[in-house]
Amino acid sequence: MTQFSWTDDLYTGSSLIDGDHGKLIGLLNALFDTLESAQGNGRMSKAMNDLIAYTEEHFGREEAEMQRIQYVAALAHKAEHTKLLKQLVELKAMLDAGGRINIPAVSNFLGAWLRDHILAADMKVAAALKKHCSAEPAPQLH
Ligand SMILES: [Fe+2]
Repeated sequence: MTQFSWTDDLYTGSSLIDGDHGKLIGLLNALFDTLESAQGNGRMSKAMNDLIAYTEEHFGREEAEMQRIQYVAALAHKAEHTKLLKQLVELKAMLDAGGRINIPAVSNFLGAWLRDHILAADMKVAAALKKHCSAEPAPQLH
């Protein structure tokens, strides 16, 4: 069974981002289960909907954080999000239409995308968030 395994190198150090990623991985694994056990049924469609909805929500949160700190590579990062979401929507449409997919290839693609994106892109956002946070002036106590 294909499952995405969390490894500690995926911790970005941002509790907001890491918490979202944990939930995202759970939804991804739920989708993998349905793809392998019951392709074409309602459970798979629901798993796909759940994954798309949460991915959208999570990307929105990351993008809002990038905007808040005026992150320098926000546009390129957002473009990666937009492309993946489009691919997820296309995959769902194909599955809903009863199309056959190469399940191991799709599962490997999605797992590799998430791992690579976290390691290459989200790590930098988390580092920028940390830097921004430590650069903020201390609150006045009087
Ligand atoms: Fe991201």
